[in-house]
Amino acid sequence: MNAYGVLLQDLWLDIKLMHNKSTERANYPTQKPEALIERIVKASSNAGDLVLDCFCGSGTTAAVAEKLGRKWITCDLGRFAVHTARKRLLGIPDVRPFVVQNLGKYERQQWQAGQFAGGGAETPEQADRRQRAYTDFILRTYHAEPSTGYAWLHGRKAERFVHVGGVDGPVTTGDVTKLVLEFKRAVGTGKNAPTTNGIDVLGWDFAFELNEITKQAVEASQVQLRFKRIPRDVMDKRAVESGEVQFFEMAALNVKASAKGLIATVELTDFVIPPDDVPESVRGGIAHWSQWVDFWAVDWDHHGDTFHNMAQEYRTKKSPKLELKANHTYAAAGEYRVVVKVIDILGNDTTKSVTVTVKAK
Ligand SMILES: C[S@@+](CC[C@H](N)C(=O)[O-])C[C@H]1O[C@@H](n2cnc3c(N)ncnc32)[C@H](O)[C@@H]1O
Repeated sequence: MNAYGVLLQDLWLDIKLMHNKSTERANYPTQKPEALIERIVKASSNAGDLVLDCFCGSGTTAAVAEKLGRKWITCDLGRFAVHTARKRLLGIPDVRPFVVQNLGKYERQQWQAGQFAGGGAETPEQADRRQRAYTDFILRTYHAEPSTGYAWLHGRKAERFVHVGGVDGPVTTGDVTKLVLEFKRAVGTGKNAPTTNGIDVLGWDFAFELNEITKQAVEASQVQLRFKRIPRDVMDKRAVESGEVQFFEMAALNVKASAKGLIATVELTDFVIPPDDVPESVRGGIAHWSQWVDFWAVDWDHHGDTFHNMAQEYRTKKSPKLELKANHTYAAAGEYRVVVKVIDILGNDTTKSVTVTVKAK
């Protein structure tokens, strides 16, 4: 029944479109009015039920479900959608805790199996062949040549070696240690020996603590590591055929951590997006590095598993200013691993981990 007590027909004409100035607007092109989704959620579920929307866009269904006391799960393949929905949900007063999970690995595994495997159960040799075919494909797309005789240095591009991260997980600090070791052993030996000190590390995701490890690796061995993201475009035939798939370098984030008694403070002190990655029109509008940051969050006690969003700062239309410092009071003295996650205005995540030691007064 609608607001006038008339039984609803197939065509709903009583729900108004959102006007341009509506506070509901999340600037997502296909956003639906909450009133529309509210009617559907109320008609098909009770408080406490679970609502699923596999195509969240700006997160209208989850926002409505949250407000109506339903549990919810929502997904989208677009980073901008996930980011828009996250901010929208965080803006709901008393929103219950939720996690944002990146399930990209399942999509990549399916793509890899479809593209490079014969189908069905694989022998270890077939799995190796699939892995090699995948690595060669990524190297070709990156305009690099495969190299032989190395386990970790998969290819060469001009003077640099190239490592290709797998689809199953992030490039870890262990991977970086191993490939730097292989590089150092190879220096000056054999036909494929490195002639410069550079390695491009290509990965779908990178472990949180990689920034630190890179610094240490560079200091210890003088190897110049460059971390680049393998873009989703490699799964798109047309983009690959155009030969113009771009691998962008990871942004660099600096964070200062300090402690006073049981209170720890983290402050964002710098954030750099590699210059080639951003259109001039966007770059021209940036006067201070913090303008690249759209959202940041802190996990104050990270244990190496899922990132727990324990505090966040973000820009909204109403308050576009971003606070660059955050505090936390620990219940007990000790050394804690703090992970800071930044989402930039282009929708990319960059993380950094720092350690803080807090003491009881
Ligand atoms: C019409 S929009 C949803 C709008 C949403 N109801 C709102 O109010 O903002 C559809 C969404 O589905 C997403 N999408 C399309 N194909 C998808 C797929 N295979 N898996 C997950 N999300 C997908 C798109 O990225 C887009 O954000």
